Amino acid sequence: MRILVTGAGGLLAGALRQQAPDGVELVGLGRAEFDLTNPALMEQRLAGLRPEVVINTAAYNAVDQCEVERDLSWAVNAAGPQHLAELCATRGIRLVHFGTDYIFDGSQKTPYTEDDAPNPINHYAAGKLAGERAVLAASAHHLVLRPSWIFGQHPTKPRTYVHAILKQAIAGSVIRATTDQASVPTYAPDLARWVFALIQRGASGLFHAVNDEGLSRFEWTKVIVAEALDAGIIKEPVAVEPVTTAFFNPDIRRSPYNILSNQKLAAFLGEPPGSWRRGLREMLRQPPWHPHTPGPR
Ligand SMILES: NC(=O)c1ccc[n+]([C@@H]2O[C@H](COP(=O)([O-])OP(=O)(O)OC[C@H]3O[C@@H](n4cnc5c(N)ncnc54)[C@H](OP(=O)(O)O)[C@@H]3O)[C@@H](O)[C@H]2O)c1
Repeated sequence: MRILVTGAGGLLAGALRQQAPDGVELVGLGRAEFDLTNPALMEQRLAGLRPEVVINTAAYNAVDQCEVERDLSWAVNAAGPQHLAELCATRGIRLVHFGTDYIFDGSQKTPYTEDDAPNPINHYAAGKLAGERAVLAASAHHLVLRPSWIFGQHPTKPRTYVHAILKQAIAGSVIRATTDQASVPTYAPDLARWVFALIQRGASGLFHAVNDEGLSRFEWTKVIVAEALDAGIIKEPVAVEPVTTAFFNPDIRRSPYNILSNQKLAAFLGEPPGSWRRGLREMLRQPPWHPHTPGPR
């Protein structure tokens, strides 16, 4: 099966490359070769490559910057996926696309299911919601997964939240983390495995695709630091200071609670997605973090 992966330089695309099962021919294209804001280029590539499935990992993910670059972020997160979904539908290609947990406003205090009503409170979330709705409207065969707080190792771009915290911990900087944001960390290799399992089983429609165990960013940060100590990446405990979102950016609205339920995914896979804790431990014991390998310390 030939699968085209867009956003080839990104985090999830890297994990998809690593987790691709036998019999899958992955073709990865980056922004210059498959630009979501260029429908003519996308059409040309689809005609040339003739994939059975497209996995669209490309997105404009700089949440705060989306408030500034509103037109561009909408073009990438809303209009681009719509064009791509329609192009795929007319060619009989299944599209796998990614939404986000940020579409919920946080007024609920129990994990959000696929049936709960979204209510985006910032421009990033509004664009992502428009994108996933357009994908689902274009074909009953398309699949939309909503992940949250994706983390994992990437060969060239060490830029997840875990990397940012480890960098500060290693430098001995004061680490501050928000108590008024909560979600579920999701390990990129786990997410990649679910993607292939869902494709192989012919899944379509909407799934929340997160690991088990939601928590605040403050709690998540404390776990990262504790695991880094356990893995020998840092030698001394580092304190984490609780702050609120306004400390980092008083101008953007962020939802206080984005914890997603993964019950539908678990039922479809026939097993629980499992905690992100195992993934974090695995990540911290791989290069470049492992104390016996050269790395950014
Ligand atoms: N990371 C998370 O915590 C998280 C949480 C919830 C949902 N998601 C969703 O999950 C999916 C995968 O996320 P990720 O973390 O793998 O993202 P990522 O690492 O930011 O990768 C996204 C890729 O999209 C590319 N891109 C940007 N604009 C483009 C355009 N106009 N046309 C084509 N490609 C373009 C980027 O290229 P450049 O590097 O050149 O900019 C980047 O390589 C996305 O849909 C994202 O919104 C992510």
